[in-house]
Formats: sequence, structure tokens, C-alpha cells
Amino acid sequence: MSASENTTAWRAPTAPESRNYPYNCWWVAGFSDEVSREMLGRWLLDTPVLLYRKEDGTAVAMENRCPHRGAPLSLGCLKGDAVQCGYHGFSFAADGTCIDVPSMKKPPTSASVRSFPVIEQKPFVWIYLGDPAVLNNVPPPPVLDWSQDDDFALVHGRMDIAANYMLLKENVLDLTHFGYVHAKTFKITDWVDPPSFSTDGDTTTFHQSFRHSPLPPLFADALGLPLGMPYNRENYGSFLSPALQEGAVDFCDPATGDITGRFRVSHATTPIDPVSMHYFWLLGRDHGNSPEQMAELEKMTEIGFAEDEEMIEAIQAVTSRDPRGSNAPEISVKTDTAGVQARRIVQRWMAKET
Ligand code: FES
Ligand SMILES: [Fe+2]
Repeated sequence: MSASENTTAWRAPTAPESRNYPYNCWWVAGFSDEVSREMLGRWLLDTPVLLYRKEDGTAVAMENRCPHRGAPLSLGCLKGDAVQCGYHGFSFAADGTCIDVPSMKKPPTSASVRSFPVIEQKPFVWIYLGDPAVLNNVPPPPVLDWSQDDDFALVHGRMDIAANYMLLKENVLDLTHFGYVHAKTFKITDWVDPPSFSTDGDTTTFHQSFRHSPLPPLFADALGLPLGMPYNRENYGSFLSPALQEGAVDFCDPATGDITGRFRVSHATTPIDPVSMHYFWLLGRDHGNSPEQMAELEKMTEIGFAEDEEMIEAIQAVTSRDPRGSNAPEISVKTDTAGVQARRIVQRWMAKET
């Protein structure tokens, strides 16, 4: 982790009443393979962020705004581990300290940019943009065991979605949308009944058991079983933090009860601002995972997740235009239980900041 050099008291960029995401939380800044010796500028939690790697490979994050005249530092270049602004050439060390102003013998001591703590847990680079004074009290980024398991092959992707990040969270916590949004792609039509739910602290979980349910093509092909074959599967998922949601399917032989395949997915959503997000998805499978089969899974996922994107962007557009905004009446049913719990959990995270 690189420590933030902070000389003034931290202030949230946006007041809590106009947002529903905590700053004092670890969020995904990018996939490890997005952060390189090329400078990457990205807005995260209302903050312009510059990401790059030092010569030793360590990931670095700092404010992507030059304190001289506001140029995005991502338009400059790297000089070793330091960043040189592309406008008038001020240079900043990886901790944000200004180390050179070309027109001066010595840079002013007040010239620095904020640097942000970073933790890399492949395939994610996590960032902390909140109050440095409370960092030690903030839960660390959740770890996905299966993403470190050699039995699993992984594919991942990123989408920028013009919607509040909680619309994606609620989407993946209520899978009864499969039969409608993904009727033509995933063809999973048996997600009808409410699952069971449980909440433990700030984690909420759903669990659905399918018995002798016909295998859709997405699952049958990977398992090497006939399309439509009656099969058992346990489908469960958890809201792990405001930043990360995990989903799982265990396929079970109906005759023996043995697990014959494990499918995993994680959804990391990082707000850009209250009405847009970065969506980092990661899928893993311990069966049917040849490079060709994983490429097919990746292609199918991109098509399917674009269907979710279209729906939640349309919801955001209605919410943004309707003068009632998010205060319009809303009906919740049992299948919304995990989503409603997730909202409460986020409110608890927010309450800690105020
Ligand atoms: S704006 Fe960066 S050096 Fe002038
Ligand atoms: Fe979906």
C-alpha cells in the first residue's frame, strides 16, 4: 500500500445528501491489466484519478489534476517514477510531492497533489479515496477465493454505465429479471420463486435451490451435458461491500448430490458520480474452461450484460427526468429483499461518515 501524503484535513468532494456511496470504503479503481506504464485517467467517486505503475511495478494513484492550472496529469508523461505535467512541465513524485517547477530553482513547498492508498489483489487494483484519518477503521477489500484458485479460468470486462451504481447492485441481487431481460440470451427461465435470504452484519445473501431443472445452453454446454437435461443447482450470491457483489452456481448431479461444476461471478461497481459508474465484472468457471469455451463465455456475457446496461440506464433516465426523482412511490416484493437490505447496509456505511 502507498500512503497518502496529506497536509490538510480531508473533506468529502460531495455532500452526503446528494450521493448514496460512502467515500470511506475501498473501491475498485481498475483491473490489474489496465494499470501500466501508460498513464490512465479515470473519474472515481467524484474525483479525477491518475493511475500508473512505478518502474518496480507498484501501482500508484494520485489526483489527476495539476495544482498549477488544473491540467489532467494523464496528459503528461512519466519520468522514471515521477509524473511530468504536459502543460508547463511541473513534476510530481509518486507520493504527490512536487519535485520540479522548470521556471524555479526550487518548487514551492505547497505544490503537491494528493496521492491515494492502493491495494492490488489481482485481478483488481483497489483504491481508498476517503478520509485518511479513519482508514485503519475501514474494512479491507473483500477477497474472492475462487479468483486465486488455479482450478478456475477467469474472464473479465469493464463497462461505463450511465446509472447510479445501486441500480446494478439491485439488478444482481434479484435474478428474477433473467426470464425477461435475458430471455433471448442466457435463456434461464426458472428464476421465478423468491429465494431464501439472510443478513449477517453488513453482508446480505440470497440462496436458491433448483431441483431437476432443465439445463439452459449456457450451463449445459460447459458441463458437457445434453441441453434441457434435468439437473440440480445451488445459486447464491452476497453483497460483500458497497463496492463488491459475488454470485455463485454449484451444479450438482441429481443422482449422487456431488458437485460437478462451479461457476462464479463478481460485480464490482465504482461510482463515477451519482448518475454513472464503472462496472468491473469477473467470471470464473472450474469446468468447460478451455480458452475457446472461456472466449465464448466472455462473448455471451458481454451481450447479456449489455441487456442489463440498457435496462438500468433507462431506469436512471426516468428517475433523472421525473421531478420526483428517486422519491417516486415504489413497490417492493419478496424478491427485492436482498436489494432492500443492501440499501440499508449502504445507509449504515454512509451514517458512519456524518
Ligand atoms: S497546469 Fe500543470 S504545469 Fe501548468
Ligand atoms: Fe442481468
